[in-house]
Amino acid sequence: TEEINQFNPSNATDVENFRLKFLVSKGIVKALFEEFKTVSPEEKRVLGKVLNEFKQLAENKFNEAQSQFAGAPSTQNKREEGDLTLPGEGFQLGSRHPLSLVRKEIVEIFKKLGFIVAEGPEIEDDWHNFSALNFPPEHPARDMQDTFFVEKRDGNDIALRTHTSSVQVRLMEMGKPPFRAIMPGRVYRNEAISARAHCFFHQVEGLYVDENVSFADLKQTLFHFVQELYGEGTKVRFRPSYFPFTEPSAEMDISCTICKGDGCNLCKYSGWVEILGCGMVDPNVLENCGIDSKKYSGFAFGMGIERITNLKYEIRDLRLFSENDVRFLSQFETEI
Ligand code: PHE
Repeated sequence: TEEINQFNPSNATDVENFRLKFLVSKGIVKALFEEFKTVSPEEKRVLGKVLNEFKQLAENKFNEAQSQFAGAPSTQNKREEGDLTLPGEGFQLGSRHPLSLVRKEIVEIFKKLGFIVAEGPEIEDDWHNFSALNFPPEHPARDMQDTFFVEKRDGNDIALRTHTSSVQVRLMEMGKPPFRAIMPGRVYRNEAISARAHCFFHQVEGLYVDENVSFADLKQTLFHFVQELYGEGTKVRFRPSYFPFTEPSAEMDISCTICKGDGCNLCKYSGWVEILGCGMVDPNVLENCGIDSKKYSGFAFGMGIERITNLKYEIRDLRLFSENDVRFLSQFETEI
C-alpha cells in the first residue's frame, strides 16, 4: 500500500512497469488473492475487505497514471510499431497529365539537338503577338472573333496570346543570333468549346536562327523529331501554306499513327494528319527584332500539343484534357 501510494510515474514505461508488478495475472494482486483462498473463514472476513481495498487502490492508481500519459506509446505499441513484417499502408500517387508527359517528351527530343527552352507571358501585347510577326493591320487573325482582348491601348492592345510565336519575338529582341530554342506554353483563342476546339490549348514553338540556315535544315530537323516521337518509319509530307511570319510557309503532315493509313476518323480516312505549321522566318520579322536579315536566316515551327497527344494516345475529345476526370487522368504514367 505504501509503495502504491508513493508511486509517481515520470513516463509511460513507469506506468507499464507498475502494471506488470501489480496487475497482470502473475502480479502481486493476483498472488494475494491466491493466498487468500488458503486462509480460514474467520480471517477471510477481515482480509477480504482489506484485499479488495488494496486491489481497488492499485487499479485506481494505474488508471490515473495511465490517463496522465495517454497517447504516449506503451512498450507494447512500440513493439508493434517496429514490426517490419506488417503490410505497409497504401499511398495513393497521382499521375502526370498527358499534356505534361507529351510536352516533356517533345522538349527532350529537341534538347538533344541543342535547343534551349524559353518561355514568355500569356498576356501579351499586339506588338509581340501580331505586329512584329508581320501581321498586316487588317489581318483577320486580329479580329475579335479569335482573340481575347484584355485591354485597349493606343496601337498596342493587350490580349491573351493566340500562339507561342510571340515568344520568338521576345527571344530575338533580347539577344543576338544564333538562336536555337523551343518554347512550350498555353495559348488562347475565342472559339466555341467542342470535341475538336477549345478556347485554350498548348503549343510548342521552335526557332533556329543562324548564318546559312536553310529549308533543308528545317525538313531534316522535323523529320528527325517525328521519328523520335512516333517511331522509326513514320512518314512526313510538307504542303505549301501561308503564315505572315514565315516565307515560304508549310504545314507538315505525318502518316496516321493510329490506323497506319487504313482509315480512321482521326486522319479522316486520308492516312495523313497535320501536326504543325512551319517555314523560313520572314526577313521582315528578323528586322523587326533588330536582326540583320542579310546575314542571318532561320526556320520556325509551331505545333499543338493536344493534337500530338491525341495521336499518341488515341484521344478524340479535347475537353477531356481540362475536365479533370480522374477516370481519364489516372490512366497515365505516375512519376515520382
Ligand atoms: N503560330 C502558328 C499557329 O499558331 C504556327 C507556326 C509557328 C507556323 C511557327 C509557322 C512558324 O498556327
